[in-house]
Amino acid sequence: MRSVIVGCGSYLPARIVTNDELARTVDTSDEWITQRTGIRSRHIAAEGEKTSDLALKAAQAALAHGGVAVDEVDLIVLATATPDQTFPATAAKVQAALGMTRGAAFDVQAVCSGFIYALSVADNFIKAGQARTVLVIGAETFSRILDWTDRTTCVLFGDGAGAVVLRAEEGQGTSEDRGILSTHLHSDGRHHDLLYVDGGPSSTQTVGHVRMAGQEVFKHAVVNLAEVVGEALAANGLTPGDLDWLVPHQANRRIIESTGRKLKLDPSRVVMTVDHHGNTSAASIPLALCEAVTDGRIQRGELVLLEAMGGGFTWGAALVRF
Ligand code: ACO
Repeated sequence: MRSVIVGCGSYLPARIVTNDELARTVDTSDEWITQRTGIRSRHIAAEGEKTSDLALKAAQAALAHGGVAVDEVDLIVLATATPDQTFPATAAKVQAALGMTRGAAFDVQAVCSGFIYALSVADNFIKAGQARTVLVIGAETFSRILDWTDRTTCVLFGDGAGAVVLRAEEGQGTSEDRGILSTHLHSDGRHHDLLYVDGGPSSTQTVGHVRMAGQEVFKHAVVNLAEVVGEALAANGLTPGDLDWLVPHQANRRIIESTGRKLKLDPSRVVMTVDHHGNTSAASIPLALCEAVTDGRIQRGELVLLEAMGGGFTWGAALVRF
């Protein structure tokens, strides 16, 4: 059985914040942010606009794009590090807002790798025969957990949501089949203090703020991503030359370009949205994927590699034939 992506959708909050606007409140500049990260602007949720609100709009767009009715959905897997509340799961709120009263809904927490983790979980539900149609969502309001006085982190992130609809389809078991060919997940909790939030219900009873050792994260990201990308290709007997597209997690232009170079991919085959989205954590891959599907770059039958790395550390990759 193969999990085929039959629809995708996304949603970005209306408000766009440029680097120049940030430079009015913290000691930074458009030049510094653009040179080090590639980010020029990001979307920030309005007051009262919650992760579930963004997720719902992305989910509705994905269902409409795929021509899938809500009552066909068996499962919602939602990746987020910024849930509306500690519980219930944001996925359950989306389920209710969609008017879905059957099936199951839960959240997955792997920070920036969250969408790859959620996709992997959903794929395994389909392969195990426990679900036929699954909504996989990545949604974040990272603006709520940023320390807006810390220039080393607040310039990097944005808010948004993206979603895909997976559907079970029979396959021949070859890399020519449409659908998810394989997923590859990793974590190494020894590095939990290089990228984390300094709060939480069990530790401080506060929400906390993002803290990061940027250079350390950068070094690990480049190495781990190269490894997992190689693992995904080898597992399918493929080489970088077989790839049509790389849709990476959008954290930093330099990390993305480094992975693209290692794969010897033409830069025009690497989907880049970090310039206008910033790092939207679990939302970044489905946002980028959706942009490239909607504007006609990614075509049916093409081979797409998704990869991400995030706090934990967590990292992973997925190979998908569209
Ligand atoms: N504006 C101006 N100056 C700044 C800013 C800013 N926004 N932020 C930091 N600086 C200063 C620092 O204070 C430092 O000044 P100093 O030399 O006087 O001490 C100087 O710039 C250099 O700081 P570095 O941290 O060495 O800068 P670096 O080149 O490493 O770039 C960055 C920082 C962009 C965070 C980079 O390390 C990076 O991209 N790391 C990856 C982290 C990441 O992407 N995390 C996202 C989550 S994980 C993931 O998604 C992969």
